[in-house]
Formats: sequence, structure tokens, C-alpha cells
Amino acid sequence: MKASNGSAYETLARHTEPMISTDLPGPRGRAVIDADAEVTSPSLPRAYSFVPDRGAGAVIKDVDDNVFLDFNAGIAVCSTGHSHPAVVHAIKDQADKLLHYSASDFYLPIYAEMCSRLADIAPMDGPARAFLTNSGTEAVEAAIKLARHHTGRQYILSFFGSFHGRSYGSVSLTASKANYRADFGPLLPGVLHAPYAGRFDSFVGLGGLDGPGGELAEPDLDYINDVIFKRLAKPHEVAAVVVEPILGEGGYVVPPRSWLLHLRNMCDAHGILFVADEVQSGIGRTGSMWAMEHFDLEPDIVLAGKGIASGMPLGAMVARSGLMTWSPGAHGSTYGGNPVSCAAGLATLDLVAGGLMANARTVGEFLIEGLKELAQREPAIREVRGLGLMIGVEVPSPQVADAIEIAAFKRGLLVLRAGDSTIRMAPPLIINKEQAATGLRLFEDACAEGVAASAGLVAEQSMIRA
Ligand SMILES: Cc1ncc(COP(=O)(O)O)c(C=O)c1O
Repeated sequence: MKASNGSAYETLARHTEPMISTDLPGPRGRAVIDADAEVTSPSLPRAYSFVPDRGAGAVIKDVDDNVFLDFNAGIAVCSTGHSHPAVVHAIKDQADKLLHYSASDFYLPIYAEMCSRLADIAPMDGPARAFLTNSGTEAVEAAIKLARHHTGRQYILSFFGSFHGRSYGSVSLTASKANYRADFGPLLPGVLHAPYAGRFDSFVGLGGLDGPGGELAEPDLDYINDVIFKRLAKPHEVAAVVVEPILGEGGYVVPPRSWLLHLRNMCDAHGILFVADEVQSGIGRTGSMWAMEHFDLEPDIVLAGKGIASGMPLGAMVARSGLMTWSPGAHGSTYGGNPVSCAAGLATLDLVAGGLMANARTVGEFLIEGLKELAQREPAIREVRGLGLMIGVEVPSPQVADAIEIAAFKRGLLVLRAGDSTIRMAPPLIINKEQAATGLRLFEDACAEGVAASAGLVAEQSMIRA
């Protein structure tokens, strides 16, 4: 698809090497950051001083014309790459026709078309229906409401280490960092937490799908039975288990299949709904449309967001049709499923199913392999894990992770910390092998500098304390 932004897009997208020609931030970036500091909410958790201006594919320029390789994809959002011509074309076309009409109150053709596509690709057998939202957190809220409404039960079970969003329901499920919850209480009542994959502490060495830890020892599975069901809530009062099939913000952790299977069986035994939060792991990121497919398990409800519309605000709660027993007025949204977002979503799904998902698998394997080789040479890398282009690199401490992140930024490679001490790599699914190879080379240099810098910092701090 050639679009009006075609040649500018191609010129920028073609870069396989970053080009950094100013200090970071450069003068224009510094001016933006200074102006921003006066007027934006101080709650925004800015990671480093990157000031984006124009993107194409897996490449992004800042306001000072420095060129970066983007292994963040706007935090796992720009699945088809920045400003993919086919997505831009679909957005422009739809914007010319109709910007908005509330699908909650009237019949918007493109809304039903998007729901139908989602029902077709949903990771469960049988008919499904979708409710469209503007974000991931709203998809989580919709799932909490539907689960309680349909089952008539109050409790929702989620997991330590997981992130589900920042609105009141979703932040009540979130338990990756206390900071997200601090001073906001009381949160939503009826939310209970269990250890993710049976672990309270480190997730290192879990083994993922088929590694040595692939089968969990029995006691690891017992917390829900022995503590939650025995001491806190009877299973017949639990409406849903909400779980990320691969932990996202909490550290890019692939749990063993046996644990998810245990949850699925437990849900079946007690009539509890299995909700897979695939806001980060869904829509091709792991090399399959949904992460649940790697585990060969079906949820009852699946949640999507982030990569679903390449950067336009769209989220979805997709449920087995039989669960959608709520009546007109029970739930809705003015903007959810906006026609321009739906147009971007449909174009995104075409691209993801039409090749990008397969590319994520191939380039993901190449990156994981390269990082595992690097781990042989670089002792600071404790573990490399992930599926497709959802990759986590575990290092010894948050300080080391932050120092590597900054050293990578200075070299023109954008990565971002997740969990306590994991560096996440979630490039656009359109990234090619050459760009991935450059990323590996830059990351190796960044590790060396980051480890040295954080060691210096620790020495400096101990001198100050002494
Ligand atoms: C698994 C998961 N669920 C929900 C959310 C919340 O999505 P949003 O930030 O669009 O509200 C996120 C965001 O990072 C996420 O990773």
C-alpha cells in the first residue's frame, strides 16, 4: 500500500543503524522537556529524556533529528511499526467519512465489523461477542463488571506481579508495584491475590513452556486452595480469575503451562471464569495472535489493547457469547470503538495476520538466540526469556537495569525496564533481522557500560555513606 506519506516513511523505515548527532536530549528536546515540566501532571513516570517526533516502521526520530531503533514500540503498542502506510491510509479514509458516532446508542457498521473480526480470531471455540473500549484498563473494567454480573459472585482473583491498569478496578487487581496503589485506598473490595506461577519472590528460572521448571512441584499450586479457598473466600463466591498468560509490566515472565492448566481446571471445577489479560501479549506480539495459543488453553474472556490498533486508542473485551447475559444499558461507552480507531484496528489485524505475526516469531527467535549467546559472555545477564517479540532480559538489580537502559538510549537503542530488574524488548512486529542484529550489538555495548556505571554508582554511594 503506497500512501501520501510513502517516501518519507520508506526513507526513515529503511535505517538499520541509529544516528545520534546531538547530546541527549538535544537543544529542542531540552526545550520540550522544560516546557513539559511546567504543565504536565508530575504523576507521569517518565523513564528517560526521549522526545519523539516522527516514526516509520521500527525507526523513530526525536525532535533534534536523532534517529533511534525502537525496541519499545511505544510500550508494545505500535505493532505494525510507526505510521504504517496501510494503517495511516485506513485512518485518513475513515476520518474523511465519519469521525464519531456513539456505538453504544446507535449502529455503527465498522464497530460491528471490528467485533466480528475479534470474534473470528478469539482464542476460544464457539461463538464470541466483543465490547470495545478506548484502552486496556477499560477492557479490564468491562471484564470485572461482566464477570460479577454474569456469575452473581463478588470475588476476583488476580496475582502478585501482575499489571492490569490504573483505573480503580484494574489497579485493585494490579500488584506489580505498591507505588501504583499507594495512597489511593480503599480500592475495589473483593479482590484477592495469589502468587504468580506459585512464586512470591523471584521469577528467575521458572522455565517457561518447556524448560526445567516447566512442571511445577505440587506445593507451588496449593496457595489458592490452602489459603484463599480455605481462609478467605469459598470458591463458589469467586467470579473470575484474571491472569496475564505472560507477565508484562511485572517482568516479561513466561509461566509453566502446568500452572495455567491448573488454573483452567480449577476454574472449570468451580464455575469460575478464566479471564486472560492479553492487553500486552495479544495481537501477534508473541508470534501467535494470542499468547494463550502457545499454552493450548482457552480462556472464557480475553482482553486486548495496546497493539490492536497500531497506536490509535482501542481496547476490547471478547467473551464467549453465552456469558454476555447483561441487558441493554448495563455497560457502554461514548467513544469506545470509535470508527477511526476501528479502521486502524481492522488494518492492523490484516497486517498482523498477513505476515507480521510470522515475522515476530522469526525475528523474535533470532533476538532471543542472540541474547542467550550474549548472556554467555556477559555475566550481568541472569536470564533471557520470552516468546516472539516479547522478550525480557533479567539483570542483577534495578540500578543495573536502569544504567543499561540509559547506556542503550545514548547509543540510539530504545528499551525499557519492566518488573524489578528486567529489561524489556518489545519492538514493532515489522522489525527486520538487520535492525535486530544492530540492536543486539548496541545492547552488548550498553550492558558493558551500564554494568560499569552502576558499579561506579554503588562505590560512590558507599563512599558517601562511609
Ligand atoms: C497486561 C495489561 N493489562 C492492562 C493494561 C492497561 O492498559 P492501558 O494502559 O491501555 O489502560 C496494560 C498496560 O500496560 C497491560 O500491560
